[in-house]
Amino acid sequence: MCRNSFLESGRFFRSFIYYAGMFLASRNFCCRGIRTCQLRTDLLSRSITHSTSATMPFRHKNTRRIEGLDSNVWVEFTKVAADPSIVNLGQGLPDISPPSYVKEELAKVAAVDRLNQYTRGFGHPSLVKALSQVYEKVCGRKIDPLTDILVTVGAYGSLFSTIQALIEEGDEKNDGNTASSADWVLDPAELANKFNSKTKAIILNTPHNPIGKVFTREELQVIADLCIKHDTLCISDEVYEWLVYKGNKHIKIAMLPGMWDRTVTIGSAGKTYSVTGWKLGWSIGPEHLIKHLQVVHQNTLYTCPTPLQEALAQAFWIDYKRMDDPECYFYSLSRELESKRDRMAQLLKEAGLKPVIPDGGYFMIVDVSMLNVDLSDIDEKQPYDYKFVKWMIASKKLSAIPLSAFCGPETKRQFEKYIRFCFIKKDSTLDAAEVILKNWNKQTC
Ligand SMILES: Cc1ncc(COP(=O)(O)O)c(C=O)c1O
Repeated sequence: MCRNSFLESGRFFRSFIYYAGMFLASRNFCCRGIRTCQLRTDLLSRSITHSTSATMPFRHKNTRRIEGLDSNVWVEFTKVAADPSIVNLGQGLPDISPPSYVKEELAKVAAVDRLNQYTRGFGHPSLVKALSQVYEKVCGRKIDPLTDILVTVGAYGSLFSTIQALIEEGDEKNDGNTASSADWVLDPAELANKFNSKTKAIILNTPHNPIGKVFTREELQVIADLCIKHDTLCISDEVYEWLVYKGNKHIKIAMLPGMWDRTVTIGSAGKTYSVTGWKLGWSIGPEHLIKHLQVVHQNTLYTCPTPLQEALAQAFWIDYKRMDDPECYFYSLSRELESKRDRMAQLLKEAGLKPVIPDGGYFMIVDVSMLNVDLSDIDEKQPYDYKFVKWMIASKKLSAIPLSAFCGPETKRQFEKYIRFCFIKKDSTLDAAEVILKNWNKQTC
């Protein structure tokens, strides 16, 4: 029935390194970060004193926790795609206009002196209030703005604070040719096998980047049952929570029975309002978990930019008041994106590629293996998808992201026939992609 078993997809989720590259892949990085932080001032002052000695060997070597993290797909492919002659469907940044009221609110707050100064570290009061109201409506439960929410630098900041605060060294984290993202399914038996007494947390991402899968209630219940059975935390990255397409519903795992108390749910202003440059995110959960994230935040970043938080709060108030209206941006954006998704899929099919239609999010993965492009003259050591994207940028002037960049070493080979396109793009960008895709075969064959 399903062409991709969890054996295939489950490993993929587990080794999903979109953020793993930063936070998960290197256990050293996430588990030792705080402790080494305390030593840093001391080390720094010692190295400053010692560096005055001419005989001292150069000792400013990188720390162990950043080893292996130097090469990064975003750095590599963002650089290439900066060339204006390239149609950039790679990095997940919208080139559509954010809602005008969001931009206007930012312009307004910039003029208020008080709002250009530091604000409450755990989240600007009006923003945490707005977030609590919106999510109380979504979750149907009380959310205390002061104790159940932490505002961070993007959703990444939330992932970072959560892992630093709650995952100890030695704890285990269980992070979890088709036509639809729904063909990737969770195999309950295989997932159950991954849990043991040391499984401290599972990281869930729904709607999923890059596959576009929206986890069903049944799948979430399987995860919830395992979390409860093994007393495991759930870190639920739901940055695309509003972006689900017809026939699908986003379900918050925190709302399943017994899950609120063990779940940190993560959201992003960048994804909610198409303002990725704002880099504001939030963690929501029970006080007994959030208070630890707040400790990390107060000892690292302390606070997020006040004007952005105030403008975001005002935007949320506008949409909060119309959450029963289809024109609310939470729903209108997904309608706008659904037609872009369908257009993109059609163009890709016509070019002979095989898209996997996403149920949520704004990415589409595409199987390029049937094109049989001979890439043997490009750097042997790289996975096929890296070579394919480099070839596509050079010869088609179209960019994407190689899918194996999201995988750990053990699953890279399995996913190197796919590349990822981003479709939150204005019509003129999609028109330019259409020209390239329509001429695809003429130019290559
Ligand atoms: C699944 C997922 N989580 C987190 C992020 C990061 O979000 P932010 O820019 O708010 O840090 C992204 C960004 O693309 C994402 O796709």
